[in-house]
Amino acid sequence: MSDTTSRAVLTTESGAPVADNQNSATAGPGGPLLIQDQYLFEKLARFNRERIPERVVHARGSGAYGSFEVTADVSRYTKAHFLAEPGRRTEVFARFSTVAGNLGAADAVRDPRGFALKFYTEQGNYDLVGNNTPVFFIKDPSKFPDFIHTQKRDPYTGIQEADNVWDFWSLSPEVTHQVTWLFGDRGIPASYRHMDGFSSHTYQWVNAQGEAFWVKYHFKTDQGIRNLSADEAAAIAGVDPDSHQRDLREAIDAGRFPSWTLKVQVMPVAEAAQYRFNPFDLTKVWPHEDYPLIEVGRLTLDRNPENVFAEVEQSAFSPANFVPGIGPSPDKMLQGRLFAYADAHRYRLGVNHTQLAVNAPHATTASNHGRDGAMASNAGGRAKNYEPNSFGGPYETGEPLWAPTEVSGPTGTHAAAVHAEDNDFVQAGNLYRLMSEDEKERLVAGLAGGLAQVTRDDIVERALGNFRAADADYGARLEAAVKALRNG
Ligand code: HEM
Repeated sequence: MSDTTSRAVLTTESGAPVADNQNSATAGPGGPLLIQDQYLFEKLARFNRERIPERVVHARGSGAYGSFEVTADVSRYTKAHFLAEPGRRTEVFARFSTVAGNLGAADAVRDPRGFALKFYTEQGNYDLVGNNTPVFFIKDPSKFPDFIHTQKRDPYTGIQEADNVWDFWSLSPEVTHQVTWLFGDRGIPASYRHMDGFSSHTYQWVNAQGEAFWVKYHFKTDQGIRNLSADEAAAIAGVDPDSHQRDLREAIDAGRFPSWTLKVQVMPVAEAAQYRFNPFDLTKVWPHEDYPLIEVGRLTLDRNPENVFAEVEQSAFSPANFVPGIGPSPDKMLQGRLFAYADAHRYRLGVNHTQLAVNAPHATTASNHGRDGAMASNAGGRAKNYEPNSFGGPYETGEPLWAPTEVSGPTGTHAAAVHAEDNDFVQAGNLYRLMSEDEKERLVAGLAGGLAQVTRDDIVERALGNFRAADADYGARLEAAVKALRNG
């Protein structure tokens, strides 16, 4: 028997010592199992229950802890306590992810990357659930499940189908900007450390005087942008499917702590109605010449989770988790997300997911009358579970977290408002024209590789029409490249 002085005794889940972990109990040496071997049945039953539902999107991801430090005074824009003064530091948990792949999928693929942050502030947890792309494919939440169905496995073939991807994209011209971004050089980041993060959406900031601003967040990587070519990515995905996970964990273990500089674009509320683009349309950026970047602070990741399942898989981010000084904009996609995430968490993790260590507030405590449900811990203890009460229970502040938004017009299903320079193609064309000749070639080759796999000519033709509308040269080159591949 090996030295046992420094080791704990192996026990059952109720803590009783286990005598034999090598041999099951049987009726005689060659006989069948005995039902009294509860240790065996407990072990097998727990094993059967090890998997929880994976995230319906962003299933594959990596997480780390760190902090956010304010480096510039932005108190004229927001009263958020954690942003109040330079030098203030707040604990953060970050989870980066790919979108379409299942839990075991390769990291080095062409796909947007999730960039989800949880700030454990003294006024509650603030979640900023963004991507590494400044824009998104669609601008109405009712299209999200359909869009994602085309990115995931086909119900018959069981794999992602180019027909589905391009059918949906060709029928949704608003995707043209994001698709151009995705097939550009930044479409396959070399690692999670070498990419930027964006809120993508517009959010509201409100200052202590009650003055509101529209804000977009940009986290600029301090490691520099590094991308993979399509060939490099295919090679890495084949030999090291976990390349992003390995890279992030190893960098932090080695003390090479990745960091990002947070900058924001700020639009006075009064400018929104007349701005040349709809400022709440998630398929558009705000050009920096209109709204320059303003520095806020630095995000640094310096601690790996101890347990990937407990802390990364069970982490739950919700765009609806705001703190005083920050709120939603009328962006319809964002509004849809305010519902979708906590609902997903209740399904995936259960109603008490907010009590898990990674999700609970760290710099304050949650204090309310929500009680019980599956897996309740002792949150609330013996305190009265109703309000108002005369037993010293928690009280409401009467101070809204964010400022009211002006609305007008009839209820109904409305298309997004179109501003003076808006259409679904203008910014896609601008992005294409900004690219170097080499990048244009790689962009067209990547797109053509996908489009050439589509089996129906009408889908190909409709897709080409969207790229032609963005830029005539873009469309012509893509048409030639697709033809060459299909005839070749
Ligand atoms: C209406 C549109 C959208 C809907 C309905 C939606 C829904 C969801 C759902 C249900 C999840 C899984 C949540 C979980 O199980 O924990 C998720 C994850 C995620 N989504 Fe969205 N999403 C939308 C758009 C977006 C956009 C525009 C972005 C980025 C700007 C985004 C970024 C993310 C990220 C980063 C995650 C992973 C969070 C994590 O690491 O746990 N999503 N989304």
